[in-house]
Amino acid sequence: MGDIDEVKNRTNITDIIGARVTLKKAGRHWKALCPFHSEKTPSFIVSPERQSWKCFGCGKGGSVIDFVMENERVDFVEALTSLAEKAGVKLERRMADTPETKLKEKIIAANHLASEYYQYLLTKHTIGEKAREYLKNRGVTEKTIKSFALGYSANSWDGLLKYLKKKGFDESLLDQAGLIVPSNRGGYDRFRGRVMFTLKDHRGNVVGFSGRLLDPDAKEAKYINTSETLVYSKSNVLYGLDVTKAAIQKEGEAIVMEGEFDVISSFQAGVGNAVAIKGSALTEGHVNLLRRFADRLILSLDSDLAGDAAARRGIEIADRAGLDLRVASMPVGKDPDDAARESPVLFKKALKAAEPIYDYFIASAIKRYDAHDAFGKRKISDELIPVISKIENPIVQGHYVKKLALALDVSEDAIQDGMRKLIRTQRVGKKEEDGGGAEETKKGRGREENLEIYVLAILLQGKTIELYEELKEQLRLTDFTIRPARQIVEHLDHYLADHRIFLIKDFADQLPRELESSFDEAFLWDMADILDDGERLSREWTKALSELKRAHLRRRMHALSKELVGDIPSHREQELQDELRGLTDTLKSLDNPR
Ligand code: CTP
Ligand code: MN
Repeated sequence: MGDIDEVKNRTNITDIIGARVTLKKAGRHWKALCPFHSEKTPSFIVSPERQSWKCFGCGKGGSVIDFVMENERVDFVEALTSLAEKAGVKLERRMADTPETKLKEKIIAANHLASEYYQYLLTKHTIGEKAREYLKNRGVTEKTIKSFALGYSANSWDGLLKYLKKKGFDESLLDQAGLIVPSNRGGYDRFRGRVMFTLKDHRGNVVGFSGRLLDPDAKEAKYINTSETLVYSKSNVLYGLDVTKAAIQKEGEAIVMEGEFDVISSFQAGVGNAVAIKGSALTEGHVNLLRRFADRLILSLDSDLAGDAAARRGIEIADRAGLDLRVASMPVGKDPDDAARESPVLFKKALKAAEPIYDYFIASAIKRYDAHDAFGKRKISDELIPVISKIENPIVQGHYVKKLALALDVSEDAIQDGMRKLIRTQRVGKKEEDGGGAEETKKGRGREENLEIYVLAILLQGKTIELYEELKEQLRLTDFTIRPARQIVEHLDHYLADHRIFLIKDFADQLPRELESSFDEAFLWDMADILDDGERLSREWTKALSELKRAHLRRRMHALSKELVGDIPSHREQELQDELRGLTDTLKSLDNPR
């Protein structure tokens, strides 16, 4: 047996997790409030049988090792080592002895020395005079220089190379660290004549550098960065996180900015919870890193996010991760660096005034196109429908559908139609990509399907017969498009026919196994805030029911009109026409309730 299995076998997952959170027995599982995101009802499940855990709220899960990695913010090897110690397992092989980890350690060691070297030149050496002056002019204090490990790379060819060679590093390693540029006449320093920013991972390892030119007239790039190395990938590192992590965690909020100086000036203005993506797009790696520390992201970026497809991708990822996303706009023509230095008070005000990202998107599109003419409407909807169709929560989505419809002065139906069309074309594309075997996943679902799960979620979590009776009044069970959702509702129908009270556990116990995961998906949907507030619950319920009813009606109408254009006998045509008219009336009455 390998080390990993040995450790897992000798560890009881409920002991390890139970020491960190309060576990409550729930059937064959244990339940708790998820330690990795904030919630009021437990959606964090531990299964002793499978020795695994999953949070249905934030999506995280895995083995006991994954738990320790997540909880203690350590890497795999560290987690394994600590569990092995607790379980009294002697690890056969020191994981850190693989050639790759050894090489990584060496690169990091070289980087550490390089950072010290650059810091020395900036703070102590006469050669750093110009750079000191430069930073002083930009308002950077000595204390900040120290906190952020700022440095200076001299304008000579091989100062760093010589220094690190003397310390025992060979050229090939320094090349692999991205510190020098190799050449057959001997390599030379990659960074020359620049203010140096030390790039660290959140654990404080020096993984790379960026350097800014001092000389405004130089013909080179204003900033250069370490290229990808074994220890540095730009989509997984956030500038400043090593310094600002604690504040981010404390506030539960991270402010995402463009550049190094934005973070530094914010820091000096008293905003200690910022990081920079360094002019790149917000990636999945960035989002996953930040969600370990915060559940709200404030984007304060130079580019117009809404028009930028790359930025939208990061936003989708963050939305799916359940993060609260907002946008803080700076005064026109200013980046956070300028704004923070000009007026810390106004700067903080601008950050406080951050608006929810979807409001920002709508406002931004309307600013750029004319919402009154047909062409402008099309541009705006082309830009926003893909964004809105990806909003995970159907009620939030409904809110923005309405808002967009209002802004464009069109019906909500028109927006819904656009969303449906988009999903259909995406599905066709996806199926072709996957060779037709695409599995239905939560994110691949359309709005109607998501609404069904949402309705099921309220129904199961609200667990009252009244809710169910309302559902039966409004919807036909056979209209449910998701088969497991339909089956669960049908089972519930039978269950409630025989029982006076709705005991959820009792009901869940008699469901067939294959419906378990769908049941859990709905039952564990995090909606504590809705359930705690009776009035809100009934509002959400009415809204969700009527939206789903609308979706079902529209789909039925769509099918009917399709049949109508085919070759059919006239009596059937009459039937179809009648039904269609009936449905149109119902839909109208839903849109204009008396
Ligand atoms: N950047 C980069 N390479 C470039 C230009 C920019 O890596 N050639 C990154 C830097 O991290 C920079 C950020 O993108 O901070 C934003 O670029 P820009 O707005 O052009 O620079 P500023 O942050 O305003 O830099 P400065 O204030 O020093 O001029
Ligand atoms: Mn700037």
